[in-house]
Amino acid sequence: MIGYEDMSKNKIFKKIKIKDTEFSNRIVVSPMCQYSAENGLMNDWHFQHLSQFGFSGAGLVMIESTAVENIGRITHNCTGIYDDDCLSSIKTIMEKVKVLSLNEVKFGIQLGHAGRKASTQRPWEGRSYLRHNQNPWKTIAPSAIPFDKDWPIPQEINDDDLQRVKKAFIDATRRSVKAGFDLIEIHAAHGYLLHQFISPISNQRKDKYGGSLDNRMRFPLEVFEEVVKVSNNLPIGMRITGTEWEENGIEIEDALVFSKQLKNLGCDYVCVSSGGNTPSPKIPVKEHYQVHLSKHIKQNSDILTRTVGMITDPIKANKILENDESDMIAMARAFLSNPRWVWDAADILGAEIETPNQYARRFKKSI
Ligand SMILES: Cc1cc2nc3c(=O)[nH]c(=O)nc-3n(C[C@H](O)[C@H](O)[C@H](O)COP(=O)(O)O)c2cc1C
Repeated sequence: MIGYEDMSKNKIFKKIKIKDTEFSNRIVVSPMCQYSAENGLMNDWHFQHLSQFGFSGAGLVMIESTAVENIGRITHNCTGIYDDDCLSSIKTIMEKVKVLSLNEVKFGIQLGHAGRKASTQRPWEGRSYLRHNQNPWKTIAPSAIPFDKDWPIPQEINDDDLQRVKKAFIDATRRSVKAGFDLIEIHAAHGYLLHQFISPISNQRKDKYGGSLDNRMRFPLEVFEEVVKVSNNLPIGMRITGTEWEENGIEIEDALVFSKQLKNLGCDYVCVSSGGNTPSPKIPVKEHYQVHLSKHIKQNSDILTRTVGMITDPIKANKILENDESDMIAMARAFLSNPRWVWDAADILGAEIETPNQYARRFKKSI
């Protein structure tokens, strides 16, 4: 491998250190569910999906939202990390992926629980709730409020469930450390369980976990407080909701309060996303449509931020960082279209990046 040199004048290609871990640049392959696992276990599809990004040149590659308990899977085909079989399949795939990866690349795992958005069809099979003949399971949520009018009513989470789910996040974090990941991310966005707690739309509990913002944040913060203890000092962050794009939903000021509390508990970064907790929010989807959310949190707190959403142009992506609107950039669909996005960005911005020897001629290096 040809070594990476931190000589770019562009911030996007500058190293960033989180705790003891140095990332070779600020470009992140966003977590992307592949809906291709069997019984929670990864397979050759995940191997090809992740290995192409292992030599993409991105500083960090995120593994898809991986369920901390089996009823927390979004679909029958989501990956899990809820038992030792799951751990062993992840370890097997990641060891193979790492053989093909650049030295500099780091891998992170996103840990999630889908709550009331579990037990659904894969996107290409309809994305709706599983019908009776599709082997559905009972979902859980902070309140017995379905995601959409005709969706099954979830079971309201009781005290035992709270303890079980918290333990599932702790055990999943322990397994993630054992699997050799470089970073851990807890999923509290896109309408999944921890997001459901924070939102007044999905959380109408009467106990200490519902009502005020402090109460609604309580469970996600309790989970975070516990997982950080077993994260072996790895960089650890959360994907959060900057806005639900709904009149009575989470707003950026709520996200700011949440981010500050996370920081106090030892959270290294927040990736600021939006929406997902209601069926048809009015999202003004356009280029960089979530950057202002990251910017607000970055400029009003001291937690690192990552932005995501409709970022495709390397010069404009770099500008987001130069303008101090975010510390890192994540991209999903741009990497699906072009897994070589970083190579093209390095050409455009004039950066030296680590590349596989076999492809060095692509970079006009003298091999
Ligand atoms: C195929 C696919 C799967 C996704 N799976 C996840 C996931 O597992 N966890 C998550 O937080 N976001 C997931 N997302 C959302 C992306 O990470 C990203 O936030 C979103 O696509 C916006 O970024 P983009 O415009 O660069 O695609 C997924 C997106 C796509 C396209």
